[in-house]
Amino acid sequence: MAMMRSLIAGCGGYLPERCVPNAALAAEFGIETSDEWIVERTGIRQRHIAAPGETASAMGSAAARQALERAGIEVSAVDAIIVATATPDSAFPATAVRIQQQLGITRGFAFDIAAACTGFVYALSVADAMIRTGQARCALVIGTEVFSRILDWTDRGTCVLFGDGAGAVVVTAGEGEGKSTDRGILSTHLHSDGRHGDILLVDGGAGSTGGTGLLRMAGKEVFRHAVSKLAAVVDEALAANGLGHGDIRWLVPHQANLRIIEAMGRKLNLPRERVVVTVGQHANTSAASIPLALADAAGRGMIERGDLVALEAIGGGLTWGAALVRF
Ligand code: COA
Repeated sequence: MAMMRSLIAGCGGYLPERCVPNAALAAEFGIETSDEWIVERTGIRQRHIAAPGETASAMGSAAARQALERAGIEVSAVDAIIVATATPDSAFPATAVRIQQQLGITRGFAFDIAAACTGFVYALSVADAMIRTGQARCALVIGTEVFSRILDWTDRGTCVLFGDGAGAVVVTAGEGEGKSTDRGILSTHLHSDGRHGDILLVDGGAGSTGGTGLLRMAGKEVFRHAVSKLAAVVDEALAANGLGHGDIRWLVPHQANLRIIEAMGRKLNLPRERVVVTVGQHANTSAASIPLALADAAGRGMIERGDLVALEAIGGGLTWGAALVRF
Protein backbone atom coordinates (compact mmCIF):
# COMPACT_ATOMS: atom_id res chain seq x y z
CA MET A 1 0.00 0.00 0.00
CA ALA A 2 1.37 3.42 -0.93
CA MET A 3 2.37 5.57 2.02
CA MET A 4 4.22 8.82 2.70
CA ARG A 5 7.93 8.56 3.45
CA SER A 6 10.37 11.27 4.51
CA LEU A 7 13.45 11.24 2.29
CA ILE A 8 16.82 12.65 3.28
CA ALA A 9 17.64 14.68 0.21
CA GLY A 10 20.93 16.25 1.33
CA CYS A 11 23.29 16.73 4.29
CA GLY A 12 25.47 19.72 5.15
CA GLY A 13 27.87 20.76 7.86
CA TYR A 14 29.72 23.75 9.23
CA LEU A 15 32.71 23.96 11.55
CA PRO A 16 34.10 27.19 12.99
CA GLU A 17 37.45 28.21 11.53
CA ARG A 18 39.41 27.92 14.76
CA CYS A 19 40.63 24.36 15.38
CA VAL A 20 42.16 23.60 18.77
CA PRO A 21 44.23 20.41 19.07
CA ASN A 22 44.49 18.67 22.45
CA ALA A 23 48.05 19.89 23.01
CA ALA A 24 46.87 23.51 22.75
CA LEU A 25 44.40 22.98 25.62
CA ALA A 26 47.34 22.48 27.94
CA ALA A 27 49.68 25.01 26.34
CA GLU A 28 47.27 27.87 25.57
CA PHE A 29 44.23 27.29 27.79
CA GLY A 30 46.27 26.34 30.87
CA ILE A 31 44.32 23.11 31.44
CA GLU A 32 46.17 20.40 33.33
CA THR A 33 45.76 17.68 30.73
CA SER A 34 47.62 15.91 27.97
CA ASP A 35 46.98 14.81 24.41
CA GLU A 36 47.71 11.25 25.53
CA TRP A 37 45.05 11.25 28.31
CA ILE A 38 42.36 12.71 26.05
CA VAL A 39 43.09 10.41 23.08
CA GLU A 40 43.28 7.29 25.22
CA ARG A 41 40.01 7.94 27.12
CA THR A 42 37.95 9.53 24.36
CA GLY A 43 39.56 9.30 20.91
CA ILE A 44 39.27 13.10 20.64
CA ARG A 45 42.27 14.80 18.98
CA GLN A 46 40.92 18.30 18.30
CA ARG A 47 37.78 20.41 18.41
CA HIS A 48 36.58 23.56 16.62
CA ILE A 49 35.67 26.61 18.69
CA ALA A 50 33.33 29.38 17.54
CA ALA A 51 34.69 32.89 17.08
CA PRO A 52 33.49 35.62 19.46
CA GLY A 53 30.03 36.64 18.25
CA GLU A 54 29.58 33.48 16.16
CA THR A 55 26.16 32.08 17.07
CA ALA A 56 24.28 28.78 16.82
CA SER A 57 21.98 30.40 14.25
CA ALA A 58 24.84 31.59 12.03
CA MET A 59 26.48 28.16 12.08
CA GLY A 60 23.13 26.41 11.54
CA SER A 61 22.37 28.64 8.54
CA ALA A 62 25.74 27.77 6.98
CA ALA A 63 25.12 24.03 7.45
CA ALA A 64 21.59 24.38 6.04
CA ARG A 65 22.86 26.21 2.94
CA GLN A 66 25.31 23.38 2.22
CA ALA A 67 22.60 20.73 2.74
CA LEU A 68 20.23 22.53 0.34
CA GLU A 69 23.00 22.98 -2.23
CA ARG A 70 23.96 19.30 -2.09
CA ALA A 71 20.28 18.32 -2.36
CA GLY A 72 19.83 20.65 -5.33
CA ILE A 73 16.82 22.18 -3.59
CA GLU A 74 16.01 25.89 -3.64
CA VAL A 75 15.69 27.64 -0.30
CA SER A 76 12.21 28.77 -1.40
CA ALA A 77 10.99 25.14 -1.18
CA VAL A 78 11.57 24.97 2.58
CA ASP A 79 8.35 25.11 4.63
CA ALA A 80 9.59 23.94 8.05
CA ILE A 81 12.76 24.44 10.09
CA ILE A 82 13.38 22.36 13.19
CA VAL A 83 16.50 23.09 15.20
CA ALA A 84 17.97 20.96 17.94
CA THR A 85 20.19 22.98 20.24
CA ALA A 86 21.10 23.35 23.90
CA THR A 87 22.96 26.58 23.16
CA PRO A 88 20.37 28.81 21.47
CA ASP A 89 21.20 32.42 20.52
CA SER A 90 18.68 33.46 23.20
CA ALA A 91 15.75 31.94 25.11
CA PHE A 92 13.55 33.37 22.37
CA PRO A 93 13.05 33.95 19.49
CA ALA A 94 13.87 30.34 18.72
CA THR A 95 17.20 29.79 16.96
CA ALA A 96 15.15 28.14 14.17
CA VAL A 97 13.33 31.42 13.53
CA ARG A 98 16.66 33.28 13.41
CA ILE A 99 17.83 30.75 10.82
CA GLN A 100 14.58 31.20 8.88
CA GLN A 101 15.30 34.92 8.72
CA GLN A 102 18.97 34.44 7.81
CA LEU A 103 17.97 32.16 4.92
CA GLY A 104 15.41 34.73 3.72
CA ILE A 105 12.41 32.46 4.28
CA THR A 106 9.09 34.06 5.25
CA ARG A 107 6.65 31.18 4.87
CA GLY A 108 6.04 28.05 6.93
CA PHE A 109 7.17 27.70 10.52
CA ALA A 110 10.32 27.24 12.60
CA PHE A 111 10.91 26.03 16.15
CA ASP A 112 13.55 24.57 18.47
CA ILE A 113 13.76 21.25 20.27
CA ALA A 114 15.62 20.68 23.53
CA ALA A 115 16.86 17.12 24.00
CA ALA A 116 20.59 17.79 24.52
CA CYS A 117 22.83 15.36 22.59
CA THR A 118 19.78 13.37 21.42
CA GLY A 119 18.27 16.54 19.94
CA PHE A 120 18.93 15.71 16.30
CA VAL A 121 17.19 12.31 16.56
CA TYR A 122 14.23 14.00 18.29
CA ALA A 123 14.09 16.73 15.63
CA LEU A 124 14.28 14.18 12.82
CA SER A 125 11.45 12.23 14.44
CA VAL A 126 9.23 15.33 14.61
CA ALA A 127 10.05 16.28 11.00
CA ASP A 128 9.24 12.74 9.85
CA ALA A 129 5.87 12.81 11.61
CA MET A 130 5.02 16.24 10.17
CA ILE A 131 5.96 15.19 6.66
CA ARG A 132 4.05 11.93 6.83
CA THR A 133 0.93 13.74 8.07
CA GLY A 134 1.20 16.42 5.39
CA GLN A 135 2.02 19.35 7.70
CA ALA A 136 5.27 19.98 5.86
CA ARG A 137 6.74 18.97 2.51
CA CYS A 138 10.34 20.16 2.78
CA ALA A 139 11.93 20.48 6.21
CA LEU A 140 15.37 21.57 7.32
CA VAL A 141 16.43 19.58 10.37
CA ILE A 142 19.43 21.21 12.00
CA GLY A 143 21.65 20.50 15.01
CA THR A 144 23.81 23.45 16.01
CA GLU A 145 25.84 24.02 19.16
CA VAL A 146 28.29 26.44 20.76
CA PHE A 147 29.14 24.29 23.76
CA SER A 148 32.36 26.28 24.26
CA ARG A 149 30.11 28.93 25.90
CA ILE A 150 28.57 26.57 28.48
CA LEU A 151 31.76 24.73 29.44
CA ASP A 152 33.47 25.21 32.77
CA TRP A 153 36.99 25.79 31.43
CA THR A 154 38.38 25.05 34.92
CA ASP A 155 36.87 21.51 34.91
CA ARG A 156 39.25 19.32 32.93
CA GLY A 157 36.86 16.37 33.27
CA THR A 158 34.37 18.05 30.90
CA CYS A 159 35.95 20.95 28.98
CA VAL A 160 38.21 18.71 26.90
CA LEU A 161 35.28 16.66 25.58
CA PHE A 162 33.19 19.12 23.59
CA GLY A 163 33.39 21.26 20.46
CA ASP A 164 31.29 23.69 18.40
CA GLY A 165 29.66 23.11 15.01
CA ALA A 166 26.46 22.57 13.07
CA GLY A 167 24.95 19.96 10.79
CA ALA A 168 21.76 19.94 8.74
CA VAL A 169 19.68 17.64 6.59
CA VAL A 170 16.94 18.43 4.07
CA VAL A 171 13.94 16.14 4.50
CA THR A 172 11.40 15.97 1.68
CA ALA A 173 8.09 14.19 1.15
CA GLY A 174 8.21 11.02 -0.92
CA GLU A 175 6.33 7.79 -1.35
CA GLY A 176 6.96 4.22 -0.33
CA GLU A 177 5.19 0.93 -0.03
CA GLY A 178 5.40 0.57 3.73
CA LYS A 179 8.27 -1.91 3.40
CA SER A 180 11.75 -1.94 4.90
CA THR A 181 13.11 -1.70 1.35
CA ASP A 182 11.51 1.77 0.96
CA ARG A 183 13.80 4.76 0.69
CA GLY A 184 13.48 7.31 3.49
CA ILE A 185 13.08 7.33 7.26
CA LEU A 186 11.79 3.85 8.15
CA SER A 187 11.13 4.67 11.80
CA THR A 188 12.35 6.68 14.79
CA HIS A 189 12.40 5.59 18.43
CA LEU A 190 12.61 8.07 21.30
CA HIS A 191 13.13 7.59 25.04
CA SER A 192 13.73 9.67 28.13
CA ASP A 193 14.09 9.02 31.85
CA GLY A 194 14.20 12.10 34.06
CA ARG A 195 15.35 10.14 37.08
CA HIS A 196 18.87 10.52 35.68
CA GLY A 197 18.54 14.24 34.95
CA ASP A 198 21.32 15.27 37.29
CA ILE A 199 24.15 13.17 35.84
CA LEU A 200 24.49 15.44 32.80
CA LEU A 201 22.99 18.92 32.94
CA VAL A 202 23.45 22.63 32.50
CA ASP A 203 23.35 23.95 36.01
CA GLY A 204 21.24 27.14 35.73
CA GLY A 205 20.37 29.35 32.78
CA ALA A 206 17.25 31.18 31.62
CA GLY A 207 14.39 30.71 34.10
CA SER A 208 16.48 29.09 36.83
CA THR A 209 16.75 30.38 40.39
CA GLY A 210 20.48 29.84 40.71
CA GLY A 211 23.40 27.95 39.30
CA THR A 212 26.23 28.82 37.01
CA GLY A 213 24.82 28.20 33.54
CA LEU A 214 27.61 25.70 32.94
CA LEU A 215 27.68 22.03 31.98
CA ARG A 216 28.16 19.44 34.74
CA MET A 217 28.64 15.75 34.12
CA ALA A 218 29.18 12.59 36.11
CA GLY A 219 31.15 10.99 33.27
CA LYS A 220 31.32 7.46 34.64
CA GLU A 221 27.55 7.42 35.30
CA VAL A 222 26.79 8.60 31.76
CA PHE A 223 29.15 5.97 30.36
CA ARG A 224 27.39 3.28 32.38
CA HIS A 225 24.02 4.07 30.75
CA ALA A 226 25.30 4.72 27.23
CA VAL A 227 26.10 1.41 25.57
CA SER A 228 23.23 -0.63 27.02
CA LYS A 229 20.57 1.98 26.24
CA LEU A 230 21.94 2.70 22.76
CA ALA A 231 22.22 -0.97 21.80
CA ALA A 232 18.68 -1.58 23.07
CA VAL A 233 17.17 1.29 21.08
CA VAL A 234 18.93 0.29 17.84
CA ASP A 235 17.68 -3.27 18.31
CA GLU A 236 14.18 -1.85 18.94
CA ALA A 237 14.38 0.07 15.64
CA LEU A 238 15.60 -2.98 13.70
CA ALA A 239 12.91 -5.22 15.19
CA ALA A 240 10.19 -2.68 14.32
CA ASN A 241 11.18 -3.05 10.67
CA GLY A 242 11.84 -6.79 10.62
CA LEU A 243 15.55 -6.13 10.12
CA GLY A 244 18.70 -7.42 11.81
CA HIS A 245 22.27 -6.30 12.53
CA GLY A 246 23.41 -7.61 9.15
CA ASP A 247 21.11 -5.19 7.33
CA ILE A 248 22.88 -2.08 8.66
CA ARG A 249 25.20 -0.62 6.02
CA TRP A 250 26.37 2.34 8.12
CA LEU A 251 26.15 3.20 11.79
CA VAL A 252 26.26 6.97 12.27
CA PRO A 253 26.39 7.31 16.06
CA HIS A 254 26.36 10.39 18.25
CA GLN A 255 30.03 11.30 18.53
CA ALA A 256 30.76 11.57 22.26
CA ASN A 257 33.49 9.08 22.90
CA LEU A 258 35.35 6.57 20.71
CA ARG A 259 35.12 3.89 23.41
CA ILE A 260 31.30 4.10 23.40
CA ILE A 261 31.23 4.14 19.58
CA GLU A 262 33.50 1.08 19.32
CA ALA A 263 31.47 -0.79 21.94
CA MET A 264 28.33 -0.08 19.89
CA GLY A 265 30.00 -1.43 16.75
CA ARG A 266 30.81 -4.65 18.62
CA LYS A 267 27.27 -4.96 20.06
CA LEU A 268 25.80 -4.63 16.56
CA ASN A 269 28.41 -6.99 15.03
CA LEU A 270 29.52 -4.30 12.59
CA PRO A 271 33.02 -4.22 11.10
CA ARG A 272 34.93 -1.04 12.02
CA GLU A 273 34.73 0.36 8.50
CA ARG A 274 30.91 0.42 8.68
CA VAL A 275 30.92 2.86 11.61
CA VAL A 276 31.24 6.57 10.77
CA VAL A 277 33.65 8.18 13.25
CA THR A 278 34.30 11.92 13.42
CA VAL A 279 34.79 12.36 17.17
CA GLY A 280 38.57 12.60 16.70
CA GLN A 281 38.21 15.72 14.53
CA HIS A 282 35.04 17.33 15.93
CA ALA A 283 34.91 16.17 19.61
CA ASN A 284 31.37 16.02 21.02
CA THR A 285 29.26 18.67 19.27
CA SER A 286 26.07 17.48 21.00
CA ALA A 287 22.99 17.86 18.77
CA ALA A 288 25.23 18.72 15.81
CA SER A 289 27.32 15.56 15.92
CA ILE A 290 25.11 13.17 13.91
CA PRO A 291 24.27 15.58 11.05
CA LEU A 292 27.93 16.69 10.94
CA ALA A 293 29.02 13.04 10.70
CA LEU A 294 26.37 12.41 8.01
CA ALA A 295 27.60 15.44 6.06
CA ASP A 296 31.18 14.24 6.39
CA ALA A 297 30.30 10.71 5.18
CA ALA A 298 28.10 12.06 2.37
CA GLY A 299 30.84 14.50 1.32
CA ARG A 300 33.26 11.56 0.99
CA GLY A 301 30.71 9.65 -1.11
CA MET A 302 30.55 6.86 1.47
CA ILE A 303 26.76 6.55 1.73
CA GLU A 304 25.11 5.28 -1.44
CA ARG A 305 21.51 5.23 -2.57
CA GLY A 306 19.73 2.27 -0.99
CA ASP A 307 22.11 2.02 1.99
CA LEU A 308 20.46 1.42 5.37
CA VAL A 309 21.84 3.89 7.93
CA ALA A 310 21.28 3.58 11.68
CA LEU A 311 21.49 6.76 13.75
CA GLU A 312 21.66 6.69 17.56
CA ALA A 313 22.30 9.15 20.38
CA ILE A 314 22.13 9.57 24.14
CA GLY A 315 22.35 12.77 26.16
CA GLY A 316 21.18 14.93 29.03
CA GLY A 317 17.71 14.13 30.31
CA LEU A 318 18.56 11.35 30.10
CA THR A 319 17.27 11.22 26.55
CA TRP A 320 18.16 8.62 23.95
CA GLY A 321 16.88 7.45 20.61
CA ALA A 322 17.54 5.89 17.23
CA ALA A 323 16.41 6.24 13.64
CA LEU A 324 16.68 3.94 10.65
CA VAL A 325 17.01 5.66 7.29
CA ARG A 326 17.35 4.14 3.85
CA PHE A 327 19.19 6.61 1.64
N1 COA B 1 43.25 15.29 31.65
C1 COA B 1 43.98 14.59 32.51
N2 COA B 1 43.46 13.96 33.58
C2 COA B 1 42.13 14.04 33.74
C3 COA B 1 41.31 14.76 32.87
C4 COA B 1 41.93 15.41 31.79
N3 COA B 1 41.22 16.12 30.89
N4 COA B 1 40.05 14.66 33.30
C5 COA B 1 40.06 13.89 34.41
N5 COA B 1 41.32 13.52 34.67
C6 COA B 1 41.79 12.68 35.77
C7 COA B 1 40.87 12.73 36.97
O1 COA B 1 41.16 13.84 37.76
C8 COA B 1 41.18 11.43 37.64
O2 COA B 1 42.39 11.59 38.37
P1 COA B 1 42.55 10.87 39.82
O3 COA B 1 42.42 9.40 39.53
O4 COA B 1 43.90 11.33 40.23
O5 COA B 1 41.42 11.42 40.62
C9 COA B 1 41.46 10.49 36.49
O6 COA B 1 41.80 11.32 35.37
C10 COA B 1 40.29 9.60 36.15
O7 COA B 1 39.13 10.43 36.05
P2 COA B 1 37.74 9.83 35.73
O8 COA B 1 36.74 10.92 35.65
O9 COA B 1 37.47 8.71 36.68
O10 COA B 1 38.01 9.26 34.29
P3 COA B 1 37.18 8.26 33.43
O11 COA B 1 37.99 7.07 33.14
O12 COA B 1 35.79 8.07 33.94
O13 COA B 1 37.06 9.08 32.07
C11 COA B 1 35.49 10.35 30.80
C12 COA B 1 36.36 10.28 32.04
C13 COA B 1 34.73 11.67 30.83
C14 COA B 1 36.37 10.32 29.57
C15 COA B 1 34.53 9.15 30.80
O14 COA B 1 33.87 9.05 32.05
C16 COA B 1 33.51 9.24 29.73
O15 COA B 1 33.82 9.19 28.56
N6 COA B 1 32.21 9.33 30.08
C17 COA B 1 31.14 9.45 29.15
C18 COA B 1 31.05 10.89 28.82
C19 COA B 1 30.20 11.17 27.64
O16 COA B 1 30.32 10.54 26.62
N7 COA B 1 29.35 12.17 27.79
C20 COA B 1 28.56 12.72 26.78
C21 COA B 1 27.33 11.94 26.57
S1 COA B 1 26.32 12.88 25.52
